[in-house]
Amino acid sequence: MNLSLFYSAPSQNDTECLVVPVVDEGEKDKSSPKLLTPDPAVQSVAGPLFGGDVTGKMLETTLLFSPQGLKAKRLLLIGGGKARNFSHHELRKLAGAAVRFLKTRNVRSFTFVLPEGTPDAVRAAVEGAHVGNFDSDYYRSDRKDQKITDLHLLAPGARNDALDRAMQEGRILAESQNFTRDLVNEPGNRMTPTILADRARKMAADVGLQCEVLGADRIKQLKMGAFWSVAQGSDEPPALIVLRYDPPGAPAQPVLGLVGKGITFDSGGISIKPADGMEKMKYDMGGGAAVLGAMRAIALLKLKFKVICIVCATENMPSGKAQKPGDVQIAMSGKSIEVINTDAEGRLVLADGLHYARQLGATHLIDAATLTGACVVALGGVNAGAFTNNDSEWQRLQRALARSGEKMWRLPIDDDYKELIRSGIADMKNTGGRYGGAITAAMFLKEFVEDTPWIHLDIAGTAWMDENKPWIAQGPTGIAVRSIAEWAREFEKD
Ligand code: BES
Ligand code: MN
Ligand code: ZN
Repeated sequence: MNLSLFYSAPSQNDTECLVVPVVDEGEKDKSSPKLLTPDPAVQSVAGPLFGGDVTGKMLETTLLFSPQGLKAKRLLLIGGGKARNFSHHELRKLAGAAVRFLKTRNVRSFTFVLPEGTPDAVRAAVEGAHVGNFDSDYYRSDRKDQKITDLHLLAPGARNDALDRAMQEGRILAESQNFTRDLVNEPGNRMTPTILADRARKMAADVGLQCEVLGADRIKQLKMGAFWSVAQGSDEPPALIVLRYDPPGAPAQPVLGLVGKGITFDSGGISIKPADGMEKMKYDMGGGAAVLGAMRAIALLKLKFKVICIVCATENMPSGKAQKPGDVQIAMSGKSIEVINTDAEGRLVLADGLHYARQLGATHLIDAATLTGACVVALGGVNAGAFTNNDSEWQRLQRALARSGEKMWRLPIDDDYKELIRSGIADMKNTGGRYGGAITAAMFLKEFVEDTPWIHLDIAGTAWMDENKPWIAQGPTGIAVRSIAEWAREFEKD
């Protein structure tokens, strides 16, 4: 999408469509719409509709053709909800909704009027528009692939270089999110561990990251017994994808470690899943794809310190070679694990991924994984689960979320849960029973990070949307890409 930023009057803008947000300043049920531009010509076109067709309700759309007194061919008024709740997070949705509304009406280029000339507003509009421009119907032969090709932003006030920078940052973050969505959208037969590694390698070459892919032999040589125990059951070779970002002049510390679960298909293994809904387990590499997307953003945003990224990619399959319930595996760290349920495979691959990241020098860890159905039960499709062993990392993550607008809810890390994963034969078992399943999974991971500051993001409920939303297509969401990149950027402020 081509982007440009102007500071001229909306009514003078010659465009296919002028998009203007409207908020509602009314209390309770009584609406009192307010246009978020002072341009008198736009006011006089929109004003007569207020209180009737136009209320300012969130995501309400009103399209006018040949609006009088405006150079634009169309005027799209888009509701932003109650004025007092309106922030750049709502603006992000409006930009996405405008893209999705217009692209299906054969509009390819439009102008979005920003309510304020701030970097936050510019970034939100750019991010939202890119996210709205993505569709997941790759393999439909009647795919229209309608896209907005040109987005113009109109900012009030005087020219400001910070807004140009915000526009480029927004583009990098959102294109990285869509890069991740591309990967997650592919079905298991078209996104094997090998293909995922190839895509990572290509991306790394494009943005200047180092990339190394370790195969089965190296995984065994490194004594990654937990990762290998999952990989051993599949005919598809696993891939341990290692990306390094090492900018010239970077200090020795911090070294950020991004670790992702890359199960390209999760059948459950010998503890096989029911057929109903199993097809969705192609998105079980969503965490791995998210850390790859975050690495892309980090490289393009030119962060000032070192970051390493590890994706443990494998299928989880039943076969004559597959691990069995009751098997005991020795993780790379030396800890022994009794595998109660082969479907709790994500924590097994992450155990070795997290340990390896520490061994490579990571001082701060963040992982992303579609880890548990229990997290979906707890938080639904709205919030991702966030766990951390370190309160100041939680603060840092919250600052990142305030910028990304992604919703994540903190769940506990607490040694009182540890007894649930105690094993009679080994150091721990890989499941903790029915209750608190997202927490016991996190407690399992904690055994492999020890005292390193660490954040675990369980994105099982948020990495895939079953329904279209006005601002985002059904399918992969790319959750966590922007938040992880923002979390990394927060270290520059230390
Ligand atoms: N990949 C699944 C978790 C999942 C569930 C992701 C729903 C997305 C949507 C994970 O590997 C899994 O199977 N977890 C089990 C763990 C259980 C056996 C302890 C689960 O949540 O049921
Ligand atoms: Mn599983
Ligand atoms: Zn899984």
